[in-house]
Amino acid sequence: MILGVNVDHVATVREARKTFEPDPVMAATLAILGGANGITVHLREDRRHIHDRDLKMLRDVVHCELNLEMAATEEMVRIARDIKPDMVTLVPEKRQELTTEGGLNVTGQKEHLKETIKRIHDSGIPVSLFINPHIMDVDISKEINADMIEIHTGLYANVKGKKQEDELHRVMEAVKIGNNLGLLVNAGHGLTYFNVKRIAAIEGIRGLYIGHSIISRAVLVGIERAVREMKKLIVA
Ligand code: PXP
Repeated sequence: MILGVNVDHVATVREARKTFEPDPVMAATLAILGGANGITVHLREDRRHIHDRDLKMLRDVVHCELNLEMAATEEMVRIARDIKPDMVTLVPEKRQELTTEGGLNVTGQKEHLKETIKRIHDSGIPVSLFINPHIMDVDISKEINADMIEIHTGLYANVKGKKQEDELHRVMEAVKIGNNLGLLVNAGHGLTYFNVKRIAAIEGIRGLYIGHSIISRAVLVGIERAVREMKKLIVA
């Protein structure tokens, strides 16, 4: 099972002050030292967190899997073809959303996604589609030549009890069908230290893509040392 760490939230803190720190590129190298098998960033149209400079620098320093999440737009395809990440994950994108709210509408955008995948493939880059755990979406992903799918675990993460069991089974079913169709199957979104184990235990999942929970924990487990180091500088 591989772990891809999403460092967008490091850039979100940086953008709160529009300064140079914390740097998502530095965070990425430390995440790799911690055992991350890959680094993910979402370059949004509005550049609200990750900037083009981050992506360029990450391409230089990330020698494991660099996963570029992006909308299926002309501008993003051009950037992907130029930067050449190790993989692209196509995601839906709305300006108003706080984070990616659901999987792609693969039915409604079938032809557009197929053409986008083809153009990314022309540059030799494998493509993953971020989809809801719906059987039809898995089938369409295969039909339009995706190499991989990432099953959206957001709903599983946000409900409890019987509803969570139901969601877990939907994810398991989507994984099984994806595997049977010969797709590589990943999962992600909303996974935390408390809910990840049951998803990680699903047979046939290649990797998990996790951001918010890891960066949140990093803020807390690292704060003691950060304060100690500042204190040392200011106390004679
Ligand atoms: N996978 C995809 C496609 C995403 O858009 C995101 C959020 O950027 C994640 C995984 C990570 O989600 P989270 O930050 O909730 O772990």
